[in-house]
This record gives sequence, structure tokens and C-alpha cells, in this order.
Amino acid sequence: MRRAACSIQAGSSETGSDMSESVRFRFNVDGSNFTTAGQASVQVKKNLRELGIPADAIRRVSIAMYEGEINMVIHAHGGEAEVIVFEDRIEIILSDRGPGIPNIELAMKEGYSTAPDNIRSLGFGAGMGLPNMKRYTDDMKIETELGKGTTITMTVRF
Ligand SMILES: Nc1ncnc2c1ncn2[C@@H]1O[C@H](COP(=O)(O)OP(=O)(O)O)[C@@H](O)[C@H]1O
Ligand SMILES: [Mg+2]
Repeated sequence: MRRAACSIQAGSSETGSDMSESVRFRFNVDGSNFTTAGQASVQVKKNLRELGIPADAIRRVSIAMYEGEINMVIHAHGGEAEVIVFEDRIEIILSDRGPGIPNIELAMKEGYSTAPDNIRSLGFGAGMGLPNMKRYTDDMKIETELGKGTTITMTVRF
């Protein structure tokens, strides 16, 4: 089984005036293999435990990131995941070059899914991924362009 490629960097954040120390984890999410889908979120859970992040925050990050990672595999041929740990929050950035989301409001509805039957038979496609990503995070932003791809940024505060 191939492992998710992960690079870890310690450094300062570049986001605006917030210069608090951060640790970053980056992953390539392989879009061609359903059996390895979800690996990046499993690795992030381990990394966050080692950093001593509160258990509830780790749980929320794991759930939200797993759903986003699965979405990149089943809807967008894979992508990249980045997790940035700040002193008071974790940011998860998922970006892909998939088809984009035509109607975000519709996609956010519980139970809405465009997953085909062969994907559903694998147990995916319940249409609860995006709603749960929103529910388990403090902030979620979807940027998407048809034919270009989607970037989802989520924040979990602790
Ligand atoms: N990264 C993505 N790229 C393109 N479409 C997406 C992406 N993520 C979600 N979607 C669309 O939003 C719908 C709802 O997503 P979700 O709530 O996770 O349900 P599910 O993945 O079970 O279909 C998907 O069926 C798909 O049409
Ligand atoms: Mg989903």
C-alpha cells in the first residue's frame, strides 16, 4: 500500500499580521486509489497528537479533513491537503483541479450527492460530507471554478 506523501515544515505564518509560530503538514492525495483514501487525515491525527493538540480539536479536524479528502478522491481525481497548526487554531486547506462545484448551496444540502452507483457501492456518496465539514469546523470557505477546481479552507479553533 502506498503511503500518503507528507512533508513537514516548521516556520512562521505568512497570513497577514498574524505572525504566530506554526507547523505545516502537506500531503498529496492520490485520486486513483479508493483503498488508500483517507490516509492524510489519519496521518494528521497522529501528528496533532504528538504536538499535544486538545483531543476535541483533533477529532473535529480528523472528521472534517477525512470528508474533504474523500471528496477530492471521488469527485476531483485527487488533490493536495495542507494543515497549518497555529497556537490557537488549525487551518486545513484542500485544493484540487477537479470539475468544480456548480451550485455550492445545493452541494451543501444534507443527502445531496452526485456520486455514481459504483462509488455508492463502495460506501461513499451519502451526501453528508460537506454538511459535516461545516458542522465540525468553526469556519469553512469554498472557492470553486467550473473546469478549474476547488479549494476548501476550514478552521478549527481550540
Ligand atoms: N472537491 C469537489 N469537487 C467537485 N465536486 C465536489 C467536491 N466536493 C464535493 N463536491 C460535490 O458536492 C456534492 C456533495 O458532497 P458531499 O456532501 O461530500 O457528498 P458526497 O461526497 O457523499 O456526494 C458531491 O456529490 C459533489 O457533487
Ligand atoms: Mg463527500
